[in-house]
Amino acid sequence: MSEPQIPVAVIGARGRLGAFAAKLFAEHAHFELVACWERGDDWPARVSASGARVVFEATRAGLGHAHARIVLEQGARPLVATSGVTPEQVEDLDALARKRSAGGLVVPNFSLGAWILQRACELAAPHFERAEIVEAHHARKADAPSGTAADTVRRITVARANAGCAPLEAAGTGHAARGEVRDGVALHSLRLPGVYARQEVLFSGEGELFAVRHEMSGPEAFGAGIVLAARYVSACQGVGLGLDQVLRSAS
Ligand SMILES: NC(=O)c1ccc[n+]([C@@H]2O[C@H](COP(=O)([O-])OP(=O)(O)OC[C@H]3O[C@@H](n4cnc5c(N)ncnc54)[C@H](OP(=O)(O)O)[C@@H]3O)[C@@H](O)[C@H]2O)c1
Repeated sequence: MSEPQIPVAVIGARGRLGAFAAKLFAEHAHFELVACWERGDDWPARVSASGARVVFEATRAGLGHAHARIVLEQGARPLVATSGVTPEQVEDLDALARKRSAGGLVVPNFSLGAWILQRACELAAPHFERAEIVEAHHARKADAPSGTAADTVRRITVARANAGCAPLEAAGTGHAARGEVRDGVALHSLRLPGVYARQEVLFSGEGELFAVRHEMSGPEAFGAGIVLAARYVSACQGVGLGLDQVLRSAS
């Protein structure tokens, strides 16, 4: 017997990522695309009637948390792609979802390659004295540093704390050319036409440099992660951050 399709709606469906996700859900055998919403639509009033079980949110940095709360309150499950949802906001969503026996997920980057880069960073983090990140995105990206780079810093920080290492300290910073420092990691953001998305993390210690780089040429890189995450969200309990639980439950 074939699996029942998962009804999915997309918020921000005319945007770059939202349009890609809407097409993916419309064409994929495991999903039924039941609604596409844009800015100006009264989507909060329509979530419940749409029958969507999973709502994919890809709007503007800073809106993900508020939108995910509305989705949960309307009885559906949010899958948030939008940048800028903080770990504290994920905890708030988790508490709300558990109260409602529902689930959801916040994913700063759906690319499996980007996830592997971050795993490599977690492995490297306790063994080097310094780390810096250079990220590049297309010129229309509104936020900087990228949500992915911010998430990479968070993972490096947690990996060092778990290993009993002192927090990283950046050196020679304090002027614009040395980037924005977060948790001891200097972040450098480039916004250039002709680039889609790229992240390079450089770790250094005495006499050595370890660099990992991941590059995407288009939104196709997000497809596999979006499918796995949407299937996971359709049945999970609570709201998590990142693809870790998704990939653990899929393996
Ligand atoms: N997690 C990931 O893997 C991943 C990958 C790529 C991008 N992102 C993030 O996803 C977000 C969207 O990126 P994008 O490149 O698709 O941006 P985009 O092309 O600007 O698309 C955003 C869309 O959301 C709409 N929108 C804005 N405010 C809205 C609201 N209140 N309600 C409903 N729709 C609203 C916009 O409409 P208007 O044009 O009318 O404002 C636009 O159509 C960004 O935060 C980006 O950083 C995440």
